[in-house]
Amino acid sequence: MAAPTETAENLLARIADAGRITVLTGAGMSAESGIPTFRGTHDSLWSRLDPMTLATEDAWRADAALVWGWYRWRMALVSQAQPNAGHRALAQLARTHRIALITQNVDDLHERAGSQVLAHVHGSLFALRCFDCGQPHAESLPPVSADAVPQRLAPPRCQACGGLVRPGVVWFGEALPQAAWQHAQAATRCELMLVVGTSGLVQPAASLPMRARQQGACVVEINPARTVVSEIAHQRIAERAACALPALVAALDPQRGSSPAI
Ligand SMILES: NC(=O)c1ccc[n+]([C@@H]2O[C@H](COP(=O)([O-])OP(=O)(O)OC[C@H]3O[C@@H](n4cnc5c(N)ncnc54)[C@H](O)[C@@H]3O)[C@@H](O)[C@H]2O)c1
Ligand SMILES: [Zn+2]
Repeated sequence: MAAPTETAENLLARIADAGRITVLTGAGMSAESGIPTFRGTHDSLWSRLDPMTLATEDAWRADAALVWGWYRWRMALVSQAQPNAGHRALAQLARTHRIALITQNVDDLHERAGSQVLAHVHGSLFALRCFDCGQPHAESLPPVSADAVPQRLAPPRCQACGGLVRPGVVWFGEALPQAAWQHAQAATRCELMLVVGTSGLVQPAASLPMRARQQGACVVEINPARTVVSEIAHQRIAERAACALPALVAALDPQRGSSPAI
């Protein structure tokens, strides 16, 4: 392991001392679990379709079967995936620190790693509801392998009104779930905000790091690529989440030595 740099030592001290730490995660958090980000490159049946044109109410009205097929593929990918070392490290951090975990991810990998998510600001893939009347859809879907999802698939019907059942995610142009957004905004009152794997391009979630900074938080970005968050972060860790987070958590744990490679 490399010796800690001055800034790494400062960061560790800040984390160790912080009363409240808020973690904001984006699609990059789950990339190493095999869930493609929207803006990354990936090779699949769906890669030539643009998420910006699929994840909208207009797309649903125009071709619900295409949109449902895409979501069934994403649900199958998530069901087949496992939390990565980064998800597990955050769950471990919450055992020793007061963590508020806010995610833009619609997967359930934080929960499966043992974390409590304070706010899924963009909803969840698996919280199905009726497009017309909003009634939650409790019936479970038949399991399907990600490789076997056809590109067009009829969505299930609502048991209350017969409308089409949609995924419980926030589409582009839709409002965020009110309670989740309120929790997320309240969590910007913290001493330290870790921003992991987000391009910072999707508003209003992208405003949270700046809001935290304006309220006095130290903002630390974990992302191998520079983003708009880099412009306002006090510190950047230019590494992948599954590498940087376990190193950080190990370095904070006195039982496990004090020479981090962050
Ligand atoms: N897993 C998911 O739930 C999932 C997947 C794709 C998209 N989305 C949705 O898409 C929207 C896109 O916004 P976004 O900012 O979250 O994602 P994004 O696709 O816009 O950006 C992903 C970011 O992650 C970074 N990244 C890639 N691999 C990484 C890694 N291993 N470790 C750390 N960072 C890494 C990239 O450099 C990029 O900045 C979100 O609203 C989200 O709901 C969710
Ligand atoms: Zn209905």
